[in-house]
Amino acid sequence: MRTHTCGELRKTDLDQRVRLCGWVDTVRDHGGVIFIDLRDRYGLTQIIFDPNDSREAWDLAQSTRGEYVIQAEGVVESRPPEMANPRLATGEIEVRCDAIRLLNKSRTPPFPLDDQEAEKVAEDLRLTYRYLDLRRPRMQNNMRVRHLMSHAVRRYLDDAGFTEVETPILTKSTPEGARDYLVPSRVMPGTFYALPQAPQQYKQLLMMAGVDRYFQIARCFRDEDLRADRQPEFTQIDVEMSFITADDIYELIDGLIADVMKAAGKGDVALPIPRLTYDDAMNRYGSDKPDVRFGMELVDLSDVFQGSDFKVFRQVLDKGGVVKAVNAKGLGGVPIRVMDEWTGVAKELGLGGLAYVRVQEDGEWKSPIIKFFNEEEKALLKERLVMEPGDLVFFAADKHDTANHALGRLRLLAGEMAGVIDDDVFAFTWVTDFPLFEASEEGRLVSMHHPFTAMHPDDLQYLETEPARMRAQAYDIVVNGVELGGGSIRIHDPETQSRVFSALRLPQEEITDRFGHLIRALSYGAPPHGGIALGFDRFVMMVAGEDSIRDVIAFPKTQKAVDLMMNAPAGVDAKQLRDVHIKLDLVEE
Ligand code: AMO
Ligand code: AMP
Repeated sequence: MRTHTCGELRKTDLDQRVRLCGWVDTVRDHGGVIFIDLRDRYGLTQIIFDPNDSREAWDLAQSTRGEYVIQAEGVVESRPPEMANPRLATGEIEVRCDAIRLLNKSRTPPFPLDDQEAEKVAEDLRLTYRYLDLRRPRMQNNMRVRHLMSHAVRRYLDDAGFTEVETPILTKSTPEGARDYLVPSRVMPGTFYALPQAPQQYKQLLMMAGVDRYFQIARCFRDEDLRADRQPEFTQIDVEMSFITADDIYELIDGLIADVMKAAGKGDVALPIPRLTYDDAMNRYGSDKPDVRFGMELVDLSDVFQGSDFKVFRQVLDKGGVVKAVNAKGLGGVPIRVMDEWTGVAKELGLGGLAYVRVQEDGEWKSPIIKFFNEEEKALLKERLVMEPGDLVFFAADKHDTANHALGRLRLLAGEMAGVIDDDVFAFTWVTDFPLFEASEEGRLVSMHHPFTAMHPDDLQYLETEPARMRAQAYDIVVNGVELGGGSIRIHDPETQSRVFSALRLPQEEITDRFGHLIRALSYGAPPHGGIALGFDRFVMMVAGEDSIRDVIAFPKTQKAVDLMMNAPAGVDAKQLRDVHIKLDLVEE
């Protein structure tokens, strides 16, 4: 049907007779000559119809509208230099056509398929007509980038000796911290499959099966509150390896990231990717997913203010809390309104307030609390925070975690306001040595990663006595403040695994019921093993420069987990319900 695509023709093709197919992007009438921008996923080509060449073709060309599908035939010509379009790969040529065939008409699209215009319309409308939205060059590019990246992943892992194995979608609940999606069984009334939140147990079982190096570009399902970087179904680059240490994982994934970035046209990633311990990340950046593209690190001043005359600080320190500060370089001139806003943020994050000092251009400090600082404290502050004219320093006095967390958030706001965060930079970092457990909202002990995670070898002794202090052999890979992936070395002996389930206060019956198969498998010679999963959608989102993973998923769901195009979820008929032995009796919340 076509000799070339709409992105292909160049000056080297002059005088050739060609046939193109595509969508009418725009139709313009210039003094009786019709100009059509013909579009396909490869690009745009300008084709022209002159009534002097063919009256019949000109007639039909004139009647086309946006999104009509046509086939056109003609000769490649050079555009006059002043008409060349340097922003278009085909911008130096046009095709003078004497034949056109209408392959299909189109209704007027509900929104313009121009990238700039389409991004102004409500996302719901774009999602309802996703097949039109996907015709846009930006979305076409996102799908291509995604493909190039998954292709690079497969090539890299294949070269490294990995075997891709598919694992079941209809399975049993495995804990990753979200709610399960359930599928009722027809054959076994009253029982349900759970869709996998991750292939976690299967990939460990594959290590027990001797696969040694497994990967899968795996679909995962989690019923949780959705955000710009969370979808109810998403894709992981899932990896598991036997007879390794965490260092082997870092090395493998460093190489994978560098390869994939290169394949996506993002240049070289400096290797090795730097590593930070969890404690350092929290202390220096106030986050376990630090954005290390800029400084403004958190500085601990607790020792400086031990005997402070400022009651707010002293009281906190007397109770074992900390006083920490951030020097937001160059923000000394921010309006009071901004400081009020940030104080509001600080309070929402649990601080009593947000003390601050502005260093004026003449070097003088301005702050309502300065009167409480003595000369020695001021000198130390100046030195530790490298305070210079034009700087803004803000303080958090609170419990260690609260102060870190609040300053971590404010640091991001300050970095953004100061314009020091470069959008074109990818700053990858490993965060290592996570704690094994954390307290849930109800104060229960829960696994920070998942209950299969191995502890630091020196910390097993604390399992029954002081679990909160145990370090895990768990790590995350972070880029620009986004958690890209996470993994761990796993427990490989059945006894330790049982002890961890018990420490989590799971009743014995539940342990047997939910994890009996795993404990049994561990008892048949499980090799030491570990792995990681990278959020593939997030990775593509970062590389494609999008703010939402919805823009890099062909058919994503809304915040309410709805597919607006297919209209899913939807009701089912009574017969289908009967087949799965279910009678609806909706409980009102
Ligand atoms: P984890 O739960 O940390 O680890 O998930 C790994 C990565 O998957 C991505 N991710 C998501 N992406 C989009 N939408 C979501 N709802 C979503 N949830 C998670 C994140 C995250 O870093 N089985 C373990 C891995 C292992 O231990 O090997 C796991 O799933 O980028
Ligand atoms: P107050 O004595 O409560 O008026 O507080 C004096 C200054 O300290 C104000 O600027 C408060 O915003 C600030 N402040 C109060 N509590 C804290 C805290 N926990 N951490 C940092 N600054 C605080």
